[in-house]
Amino acid sequence: MKLRIPQKSDIFGKKVIVRADLDVPLTDQNSIKDDSRLRAVLPTINFLLENNARVILIGHLGRPDPNSKFKIQNSKFSLRPVVDWFNQELGIRNQDLRIEKIGEFEGWKVNDNFCVLENIRFYKEEDLSISSGLEFAKNLASLGEVYVNDAFAVSHRVHASLVGIPKYLPHFAGLRLLKEMEVLSKVLVDPLRPLVVIIGGAKIETKLPLVEKMHKIADYILVGGEIAEQDKILLKVQNEKVTSRKTVLLVADLLENGKDITEKSAENFKQIINLAKTVVWNGPMGITESSKLEDTERGTRILAEALAKRSSYKIVGGGDTVAYLKKVNLLDKFDFVSTGGGAMLDFLSGEKLPGIEALTT
Ligand code: 3PG
Repeated sequence: MKLRIPQKSDIFGKKVIVRADLDVPLTDQNSIKDDSRLRAVLPTINFLLENNARVILIGHLGRPDPNSKFKIQNSKFSLRPVVDWFNQELGIRNQDLRIEKIGEFEGWKVNDNFCVLENIRFYKEEDLSISSGLEFAKNLASLGEVYVNDAFAVSHRVHASLVGIPKYLPHFAGLRLLKEMEVLSKVLVDPLRPLVVIIGGAKIETKLPLVEKMHKIADYILVGGEIAEQDKILLKVQNEKVTSRKTVLLVADLLENGKDITEKSAENFKQIINLAKTVVWNGPMGITESSKLEDTERGTRILAEALAKRSSYKIVGGGDTVAYLKKVNLLDKFDFVSTGGGAMLDFLSGEKLPGIEALTT
């Protein structure tokens, strides 16, 4: 699939709407716990600003109920902390930031060339299944002259800011979106082998398609997390005949408290990891978030340390897994940290992501 990134002539001096991944974890005091998604969009924003474009940034934070009566400024879903981050990071340092009208929307004019709309999920029409969704997208589109999607992590959603706006404006892929697609496509098409895929987490309905797809592509699939308890379903996948490739599927045992995989399972997984040339990891190994694991639970730690020592090409995605690796200071041992959780799963499962499809027409 050929996507275009914007060239200077496409955007010079123009008003450019950028859909970005602004959905970052916040502390109770509303400070940003992990800014990697914001850092990921900086190359696109800097390219636009260096070329005299005026950027209108659109994103969401969490899952606010758009039907509830909210006070935007006080809401824990407000993008204000993200706006403050960009205000500093782009060196603008506007001391007088306040929410104001931007067209029909609310947002912050950080300076003449850079503004950010408030959480787009405060509007129920962001969900394109709502009948007025396309009208809403058209209104959003009227804020700019060009559209760039740099929000890989949310491109699996059929939302106005992803699928609707490109119907009305010339559209391009952002640099980060393209990078995500390049790295993950290589896994699907031409990985260095053996390819080992580690899958954990809870929701079988989101993980099973990945297990099925990887059963046709990977050399080894290592399954932990809550789905490891679905042995009947996994066995069915394992017994499916795949003529072109033989994949070994190993399922971990969980500790009795379910928080982690057993050390024995982790040691078995380690043997496989030590053979790998490419590794993809998505999803916690226990049934709790990995970032809450205690020191006594060693399984995930054994796995993470074994991976850290390997010089294979290592990709990780999914909020909990990334947060855990950050907590144990091993995230920098990975070659590529995907911004996507669900989007990464869908992409690797071979699904078409609506936000990406919308850029191809
Ligand atoms: C994510 O955190 O994976 C993205 O922001 C998508 O969020 P969603 O699952 O609420 O659509």
